Amino acid sequence: MTPPVVEANGARIPAIGLGTWDLRGRTCVRMVEQALHFGYRHIDTAEMYGNEAEVGEGLRAARLPRGEVFITTKVWQDHLAPSDFERATKESLSRLQLSEVDLLLIHWPNPQVPLADTIGALCRMKREGLTRHIGISNFTVDLVAQAVKLATEPLVTNQIEWHPYIDQSKVVDACRRHGLAVTAYSPIARGRAVGDETLRKIGQPHRKSAGQVCLRFLIQKGAIVIPRTSRPERLAENLAIFDFELTPAEMKDIEALAHPRGRIVDWSGSPNWD
Ligand SMILES: NC(=O)c1ccc[n+]([C@@H]2O[C@H](COP(=O)([O-])OP(=O)(O)OC[C@H]3O[C@@H](n4cnc5c(N)ncnc54)[C@H](OP(=O)(O)O)[C@@H]3O)[C@@H](O)[C@H]2O)c1
Repeated sequence: MTPPVVEANGARIPAIGLGTWDLRGRTCVRMVEQALHFGYRHIDTAEMYGNEAEVGEGLRAARLPRGEVFITTKVWQDHLAPSDFERATKESLSRLQLSEVDLLLIHWPNPQVPLADTIGALCRMKREGLTRHIGISNFTVDLVAQAVKLATEPLVTNQIEWHPYIDQSKVVDACRRHGLAVTAYSPIARGRAVGDETLRKIGQPHRKSAGQVCLRFLIQKGAIVIPRTSRPERLAENLAIFDFELTPAEMKDIEALAHPRGRIVDWSGSPNWD
């Protein structure tokens, strides 16, 4: 079954992708290839993950027409000045062995570089044909508004941490107002959701696991999800989320799991985090 797509500002983004942070070497190549065999059509990488060459290798090994797979990469915080940005983008393409990606994101905002310069460089990458679409990641409500104002090309998504333990409704609403999709990273809370009793109980009548309920919750909120796994058998489990529907009451029970300290990925600015 081909996963559904989310449409945003002219882009058609497969609603589920394989996250690849921390996938290395042969494991990364194998997981990308297997994911594409299982039906995934969207792979998420970044220059910072140090695995773009392996993602490219997995993509080629799957032997699918290039136009069938949606590849996202991201420019790291240290490369947001315009000349660095262009160099970093070209280096990513060279590691991936692609002439263009489908989506290029600013990985994290960097207050040391004027946003206008970075957004200008991002838009130029699209005009020069190095990427089909552009977007942002880890942008707050205020930064989303600034980025949209500065951009001369449409921004299609904001990739943010989103799972049941964090209430992201404000930034999600801001993205919607501007026509951006929201891509949920760490969508199973780095594995925490799979052991959650509430999610497990909700899954029982649907014959679904806690992890599947967690991903389905985000899909019903309109998100694109990019769960990562290093185990082939879990690829199929994470993909099997389009054949059931959570009720409004179940959605409400899952929303109640959010709390103010639910964030997992450190936002204190550690450049080594992710
Ligand atoms: N833009 C950003 O700043 C940013 C930040 C963080 C992440 N991301 C992206 O988002 C992707 C996903 O986020 P994430 O890697 O942080 O975390 P995640 O996808 O929420 O969780 C990954 C963890 O869950 C486990 N897992 C996956 N499927 C499972 C299943 N069906 N049953 C049990 N355990 C399962 C994995 O273990 P196994 O490997 O053992 O299956 C792994 O430990 C990343 O890989 C990356 O591409 C982006």
